[in-house]
Amino acid sequence: MTQSMRFDGKVVIVTGAGNGLGRAYALQIAERGGKVVVNDLGGATDGKGSDSAAAQKVVDEIKSKGGQAIANFDSVATQAGGANIFKTALEAYGRVDSVIANAGILRDRSFAKMSLEELDIILDVHLRGTFFTVQPAFNWMRENGGGTIVVTTSPSGLFGSFGQANYCAAKMGIVGLMRTLAIEGAKGGVKINALAPTAATRLTATAGMPGEQAGEDDPASDAMSVRRVSPLVLALAHESCPSSGEVFNAGCGWISRTVMAVNDGVVLSQYTPEEVAVHWGVIRDAANLRVPRDGTDYWNMIQKATGQA
Ligand code: NAI
Repeated sequence: MTQSMRFDGKVVIVTGAGNGLGRAYALQIAERGGKVVVNDLGGATDGKGSDSAAAQKVVDEIKSKGGQAIANFDSVATQAGGANIFKTALEAYGRVDSVIANAGILRDRSFAKMSLEELDIILDVHLRGTFFTVQPAFNWMRENGGGTIVVTTSPSGLFGSFGQANYCAAKMGIVGLMRTLAIEGAKGGVKINALAPTAATRLTATAGMPGEQAGEDDPASDAMSVRRVSPLVLALAHESCPSSGEVFNAGCGWISRTVMAVNDGVVLSQYTPEEVAVHWGVIRDAANLRVPRDGTDYWNMIQKATGQA
């Protein structure tokens, strides 16, 4: 198959690209002609420590195959780090066409026992980290003809997961951030979408799932290979991406979309909790769902349902 989806002349920032999913995105974008800023702090899966080797190794690998890449070792979890990642791209290559905000860690604990530190570090790396990494590039893209942004949510965040209250809150926060940036970026040609990946990496290994160290000879690891997620990410990062403001899932080669939807509901006539109780069936019914484009569209739904439209 010919590679019609090329990134020649494009500059793509990938955060957390020293391992796992981010590494796969960086390598494949470089293979398709893109210039990649390979960001990675190089810490452990719980966010402790740092090591420039993670990002540098991926840059060396890209260069050894004839591709173009530059390493950045900043943490996404600070505003200065986010600014510096953007600066690395601008100084090396003069532009930014795409950002893939992928860096992530875990600090799992049941909610009853979760500490403030465990909440803060997860919000810092995932939610605030996405904000800090995306904002400089978003502003630049709006002034320079647009671009694409892919942020990383999680099936755990979208659907809930025992022991991950901090992580799920951050990952759902990223969806809210993305939805609004799609609205605010539309006029400037910025398209932004969220990915909920499922793949065997060192992160999943900590959660008792297949990890990348099991190797590609292991059928479970191979089914969950990062290579079965990366095609969607490349398609979302490419200028031809038809979507903005949407959430996509990818795992084991299955690509799908998650939506926030509203059912037909009921219009109360007596405004009492008893009337709500009588209608629980129809209020909770998930059969006839519609997907609001944005908050204004939802307001239109209220007006229509109540006969004010
Ligand atoms: P990974 O641990 O293999 O890679 C994550 C990379 O992010 C690491 O190289 C790490 O050094 C880097 N990183 C961590 N904190 C950083 C910081 N403050 N600044 C810069 N780099 C930092 O993990 P994986 O699985 O590749 O995860 C990538 C993203 O996908 C994460 O956001 C994760 O939450 C998300 N995800 C992964 C799933 C999976 O099944 N692997 C499931 C759902 C979400």
